[in-house]
Parts: sequence; structure tokens; C-alpha cells
Amino acid sequence: MATSRGLAVVTGASSGIGAATARQLASAGFTVWACARRVDRLAEVAAASPAITAVTLDVTSADSVAELTARVNAERDGLALLVNNAGGAVGLEPVAEADPADWLTMFQTNVLGAMRVTQSLLPALEAGSGGHIVLTGSIAGYSVYEGGAGYSAAKYAARAMMETLRLELNGRPIRVSEVAPGLVATEEFSLVRFRGDAARAAAVYDGVAEPLTAEDVADVITFVATRPAHVNIDLAVVKPLAQAAPYKLDRRR
Ligand SMILES: NC(=O)c1ccc[n+]([C@@H]2O[C@H](COP(=O)([O-])OP(=O)(O)OC[C@H]3O[C@@H](n4cnc5c(N)ncnc54)[C@H](OP(=O)(O)O)[C@@H]3O)[C@@H](O)[C@H]2O)c1
Repeated sequence: MATSRGLAVVTGASSGIGAATARQLASAGFTVWACARRVDRLAEVAAASPAITAVTLDVTSADSVAELTARVNAERDGLALLVNNAGGAVGLEPVAEADPADWLTMFQTNVLGAMRVTQSLLPALEAGSGGHIVLTGSIAGYSVYEGGAGYSAAKYAARAMMETLRLELNGRPIRVSEVAPGLVATEEFSLVRFRGDAARAAAVYDGVAEPLTAEDVADVITFVATRPAHVNIDLAVVKPLAQAAPYKLDRRR
């Protein structure tokens, strides 16, 4: 049997990209802790492989992150991989009409959530034979679109944090990477963004021949995470063929 690649913590693993990443990392030889708030959904993800364990985590709660960290620190071999994936968008209102509460939610998960978990798990990432932090960013962290200011601001901020961290960790055995997807048709991302409005959520993908799937993005994350320890992929941008830019989509399907 192949040697285990070690422990991987994946946040936001109860659906979409996180769930697919948990499954693919398990197939690639990691022992995976799939973390999120919804335990029932996590149990379904964990059922896919004996290498996956469901772990309740709210990245907005310092206590919840501390509980996760205590469990990780009890592991003898440290932490090999942290995938900061929990996050998403809320609302598509222009700046003039945006609700600060929505912006706060996006910052709490995409930015401060990733910061809390990263800070807390850094010692464990350094304890083993070398750790790796991968952020699920977004092309919204590299360019803006109308209605997307709050989400873009959060993804720009998360990206700034990861780029800074790479500088600060230089000389220590911890890699820092970002995978930045374009349009991904996951079952919940747009539903959450439009507060449960299924018709509006479905319209996001209208006419687009083949948006990315959660599995497509998980495949890239798994590739980034399985390079040799001296190879750091700083950034992998992945978009569907039909998308040239966040606002430039071929919808002629
Ligand atoms: N779909 C896209 O088009 C797209 C494109 C680029 C980037 N992304 C990014 O990819 C990541 C995953 O998105 P997705 O499309 O897979 O969306 P999703 O299906 O809505 O998944 C979001 C995940 O984040 C978790 N989460 C939310 N708040 C949390 C909290 N406070 N604590 C812990 N977990 C929390 C959710 O689980 P619980 O609700 O169970 O906690 C869920 O597992 C996000 O960072 C998103 O910004 C998505």
C-alpha cells in the first residue's frame, strides 16, 4: 500500500468544491478532515471514503477553530495540507445599494475565516515534514465586475493575505498556493449568493456550454497539492473555455 501523504484539512467541505476536493485528496493518498458547519452534509462526504473524517467547523468562530486546532495538534505527524476553501458570495447589488451586513459575512468567511484557521494551524503545518496552504480564491480576486464589489473585495483581500504569508514564511518549509477558479456550476454557490432564489441562481449558468464543475477545480487543487515539496505553484487560474473574463462569457449554447 502507498505511504500516506499525511493529514489534510479542507474547510467548506460539506458541498461543492470543498467536498470534491476532500474526495480527490483522499484518492490521492491524504487522510482528510472534511470541515464545515453542516454535519449531515459532511457525513455524506465522509461516506465516500474511509480516509475522510467529518469535522464540525465554523471558520467565523475562534472557539470552533481552537477546537479543530487542538485535535490537529494531537496528531503525531503534524498537518501536511490546509485547503482554505470555506467562503462564497452574498448578494449582487451595486455598491450604492449593497448591505454592509452582506459584506461583513463575506469578509468573515473568505478573509477572516481563512486567517483564523491559517494562524491557528501554522505550528502544526511546520511540525511535520513540511506543510502546504492552498487558498480557493477566485478570478473575482483579480478583476472586478458590476455588482461584485463585496465579493471581489473579499477575494482580493484573501489573496493579499496569502501573497504576504508567502513572503513571511520564506525560509520555512511551508508552501503557499492559490487556485483561482472562474465560473463553476456548484449546487449551492449561486443559491447562497441569491438567498435561495433558484431561478436567479440557475440564470448565472444560462446558455454557457460547459461551466467548470467542482471536480474540475478539485482536480487542480489536488495537482497543486501533490507536487514535490520543493515545488510551489503560486497561482493556478482555471476558467471554463466559454469564459474569457468574469464578465465575458459565451452564452450561445
Ligand atoms: N462556484 C464558483 O463559481 C466559484 C468560483 C470561484 C471561487 N469559488 C470559491 O470556492 C469556494 C467554494 O465554493 P463552492 O462553489 O463550492 O460553494 P458552496 O457549495 O456554497 O460551498 C461553500 C462551502 O463553504 C462552507 N462554509 C460557509 N460558511 C462557513 C463557515 N462559517 N464555516 C465553515 N464553513 C463554511 C459551506 O459549508 P457549511 O454551510 O456547511 O458551513 C460550504 O461547504 C468559495 O471560497 C468560493 O468563493 C467559487
